[in-house]
Amino acid sequence: MNLIGISSDHGGFDLKTDIILLLNELGHEVNDMGPDNSKSVDYPDYGVSVAQAVISKNVFRGIVICGTGIGMSIVVNRFSGIRGALCSDLYTAKLCREHNDSNILIMGGRVIGHGLAKEIVKVWLSTPFEGGRHQKRIDKINYLEKLKKI
Ligand code: RB5
Repeated sequence: MNLIGISSDHGGFDLKTDIILLLNELGHEVNDMGPDNSKSVDYPDYGVSVAQAVISKNVFRGIVICGTGIGMSIVVNRFSGIRGALCSDLYTAKLCREHNDSNILIMGGRVIGHGLAKEIVKVWLSTPFEGGRHQKRIDKINYLEKLKKI
C-alpha cells in the first residue's frame, strides 16, 4: 500500500473527489491536500503542497487536478525532481511511466470525463518505469539542471 498525495483547485474538485474514492477502492492510502470544497481557490497553492510532499518522500507519488491541467503542470514542473505528466489518454499515461518515470499525474477536470480519468489513474499507478536508456535521459535532465542550463 502506497500513500498518494492529491490536490486540486475548484476546476478539479469534483474529479478529485471521485479519484480519491477510486484510490481507496484500489487499496491506496490517500493524503488529500485540499481543497475540501469547490469554492474558487488558486491552483498554485495546492500544486505546491503535492510537489513538496513528493520531493520530501512524504508521499509515494502525487496527483493534481485543475480545470485544464495546465496551471498545475506549470506549477509542479518548476520543482527539481518532479516529473509531472498531463494525461488525457491511456497511451500517454502508460508511456509517461515507462519512459519518463512520472511522479506526478496531472489531469484537467474540465477536459476529460471521470470514467477515462479513472482508467488513466489505474494505468499510471500500475505501469513500472523501464529504466535503461530512459534513466540516462532523466540523469541528463538532472545534470543540465545542476549546470544551470535548464
Ligand atoms: C480556474 O478557473 C482555471 O483557470 C484552472 O482550473 C486551470 O484550468 C488553470 O490552468
